[in-house]
Order: sequence, then C-alpha cells, then structure tokens
Amino acid sequence: RVKLPMYNTIDDAVSLLKKSRNIVVLTGAGISTSLGIPDFRSKGTGLYSQLENLGLSDPQEVFDISLFREDPSVFYSVAKDILPSSKKFSPTHAFIRLLQDKGILLTNFTQNIDNLEGHAGILPEKLIQCHGSFATATCIECGYKVECEKLYYDLKAGKVAHCDRCIQRIREVKPGSKRKRSSDGSSGSRKKRQSYEDSTDDEDDDIAVAGVMKPDITFFGEDLPKTFHDRLMDHDRELVDLVLVIGTSLKVAPVSEVVGVLPPTVPQLYISREPCSHVDFDIDMLGDCDTIITELCRRAGWDLQHEMIAKD
Ligand code: OAD
Ligand code: ZN
Repeated sequence: RVKLPMYNTIDDAVSLLKKSRNIVVLTGAGISTSLGIPDFRSKGTGLYSQLENLGLSDPQEVFDISLFREDPSVFYSVAKDILPSSKKFSPTHAFIRLLQDKGILLTNFTQNIDNLEGHAGILPEKLIQCHGSFATATCIECGYKVECEKLYYDLKAGKVAHCDRCIQRIREVKPGSKRKRSSDGSSGSRKKRQSYEDSTDDEDDDIAVAGVMKPDITFFGEDLPKTFHDRLMDHDRELVDLVLVIGTSLKVAPVSEVVGVLPPTVPQLYISREPCSHVDFDIDMLGDCDTIITELCRRAGWDLQHEMIAKD
C-alpha cells in the first residue's frame, strides 16, 4: 500500500475523523498502559521483558499452544499477571465509545484480552476480540467450557486448572472406585485409563491426569475466532472509510495484515508511542495515545468525557 499524498497533518486527521462515517479502529495493548496494565513489547516495562527470567528461548512461548499442551504450568505461572483485574478504562477507550455514540464506529478490532472495551460500553456487535478473552475457558481434552471466573482461584494461585468433567469421568470409570461407573464406560482416553489403573485411589492423581483448562485467549498456533475473518472480509472491507490504528506494534499476524486487506484508497492513521516501520500509514501521530486522542477531540470540537482528562 502506498501512502495517500493528501493527508499529512494533525488537522487532516481531525477533518478525516469529522467526515468519516464508518471507522475501523484497530487497538492493542498500548491503549491500556495508562491504567497500569503492561503491554507486551515495550523494552523494560512490557510483559515479554518481565518474562525474560523464565528461561524460555522466547518469552512469547508462554502463549504457545504446543508448549501449553506439553507444560501448562508455564502459562499458569504468569496468568495472574495478565488476568483482567480492573474495570477502569482509559480516555482512548472512552474515545472509541464516543465514536460509537456518534454512530460512526464500524468496528473495533481489539487484540486486548482485558475486556475494557466492554466496560467502556462498546457494544458486542461493534467489537471483535481478535485474541479472545478471559470470559470463558475450555478443556483442551474434552472441550468442556466454563466461565473463566470458576478458575480464578487456580489462576490467582498460579496453579494449573483441570477440567471438572474430565475428573468426574475418570472417577466414574475407575476400577474399584466406590463411585458410580458411567453407563457406557466409553469416556476418557486409553492412555489415561491405563495411568489411573496403575495409580492409587488418591484424588490428586485423578486431577493430575484430567484435561487442562485453557482460558479462551488465542495462543500462538491457534486460529483466531471465526468472527474476525467474517467481519473483516465480508462486512467491513466494503464499508470502511477510515482506519485508525492505536497502541499496537502490529507485529502479530493475522491482525497485522488487516491494514493490507482493507482498500488502499481508505486513509489509515496511526497513533502510538513508536513508529511502525513496516506499514506506511498516511499520518503517524506518535506519543501517548490518551494525549493525542484528547487533542484530536479538542480540535474536532468533540466533548470527550473522562476522569483522567483535565478540564479547563
Ligand atoms: P505490543 O506491546 O506489541 O505493542 C504495544 C504498542 O503500544 C507499542 O508499540 C508501544 O510503544 C505502544 N504504547 C504503549 N503504551 C502506549 C501509550 N500509552 N500510548 C501510545 N502508545 C503506547 O502490544 P500489541 O501490539 O497489542 O497476543 O501485541 C499484539 C499481541 O502480541 C497481543 O495481543 C498478544 C501479544 O503476543 C497474544 O498473546 C496472542
Ligand atoms: Zn475435560
């Protein structure tokens, strides 16, 4: 994509905001850092810097699905640090809500799993959580799904959470168990049955071989939710008239490919602390996103309300 020559200044960005009717906002971890939530790749403060002492060849491995299947304790040892703990949202979240209220938000594609968009009042039909969320968790063995709240005790304690349905199944088919056998006896994998036939009647052993619960956030090596592709390719691509990318390094595919998939004649604006060297945006607005958004709204004459914005 080649940069459009007619858009260059902050005021160009303001007039684009004011005249556009179907804005796609693509967000990343940078829109939540003002709330004390670390991003991933900022040197020193980002989660991946903080994880360098874990002994992984690459700290991104904590979100690698193969490694999770091999040893879920790596993920569970850091999960408490990325668990959404606050309902406070940033001025940038409030701005996306303002676009929605004005009827000009087409879609907010977020890579964030903190669910702060929901707390800011972005409607589910306007929001695509590209990397899933901590709302639910699924057993990697049997597919049993629960509200992630049920795992909070384990998540907060840094303990691997196992599947209740698997545990129950193991106990039901266990030879010599006083508990009732399941009627068909077909549940559970052969490997597992073998291992608990050898084991003692210790409940901990049952739990240890039961399926592991994985919060429904997208790991490296997993597909994104189907809604991501459907919304982008069959809906937004036709309608979008402005693209706003905020607080993301755009280093992770396929979300990084969104800007290349949208029509090249649609203006694309970038707001983040550091330039994104691999994409030619029409206007780069570099700095703190809350500050930049506040200034854009001031120049547009829009009343952005947020407790973190000083009113004069
Ligand atoms: P990154 O940490 O890669 O990028 C965040 C960007 O926001 C950086 O370029 C920062 O400079 C910038 N930034 C931080 N605070 C800011 C602020 N207050 N104002 C403006 N800019 C700020 O995070 P993402 O791009 O979101 O995926 O990362 C994408 C994906 O990589 C995540 O969803 C996660 C991660 O691996 C999974 O875990 C699957
Ligand atoms: Zn299970």
